Amino acid sequence: MNRRYRKTIIAGNWKMNKTPTEAKTLIEDMKQQLDKDVYKYCELVLCVPFTDIQAAIKAARGSKIAIGAQNMHFEKSGAFTGEISADMLKEMGVKYVIIGHSERRQYFNETDVDCNKKIKVAIAAGLRPILCCGESLEEREQNVTMEVVRKQIKIALRDVPAEDIKKVVIAYEPIWAIGTGKTATAEQAGEVCSAIRDCLRELYGARAARAITVQYGGSMNAKNAEELLAQPDVDGGLIGGASLKAPDFVAIANASRQ
Ligand code: PGA
Repeated sequence: MNRRYRKTIIAGNWKMNKTPTEAKTLIEDMKQQLDKDVYKYCELVLCVPFTDIQAAIKAARGSKIAIGAQNMHFEKSGAFTGEISADMLKEMGVKYVIIGHSERRQYFNETDVDCNKKIKVAIAAGLRPILCCGESLEEREQNVTMEVVRKQIKIALRDVPAEDIKKVVIAYEPIWAIGTGKTATAEQAGEVCSAIRDCLRELYGARAARAITVQYGGSMNAKNAEELLAQPDVDGGLIGGASLKAPDFVAIANASRQ
């Protein structure tokens, strides 16, 4: 982290978990366990299923927890059965939206070009996109991690103007570390996050790149968060499994106090 230049953001990704009633209970537990001064160190976001948004926003009242979504469509409206638009999310009070999570890429065939369209539409609607990138195990073993991540970022951010780039959060999530309990080492996470910042510097210049929050995600938990967040270019986390338990998520938020 480097709080001098950029915000630390600890974001939960609940994936397809929790009903609205369960969401309310979990957020109330988190609120109770969070110290008020934690917000001096980090911003907290919970990216919940669409059906939980209303309950989550209500439950988060009185705290600074922001609510995010996990996906959206890139068209404004129209004949896209089952889809949700950026304006719909915005009107509900959503602040963030995850774009291009590897599970969306893998199971729903999302491409870097889709991510690019979604990011532009999200920003236009006033949402902050959390753009996910990351290599597979095979790609890491083939030694092409940086190439893969750079390609994902360059396509996803194509034509996103410099004045908008500070609204974008990048989440580096090596696919082999997601939900596997196999965390990247702090050095591996730090190395790729800093290469991501290099790439952002090439695209937007040093000042803009310095101000962008780059998170790590992939089996981040209460035990390893402190070490990961100690890396200068790791500015937070995108947390799946551990964001479904109040004490774990709170512990990760507390790990940003260093
Ligand atoms: P995990 O998920 O923390 O359960 O590995 C992270 C993510 O998919 O964002």
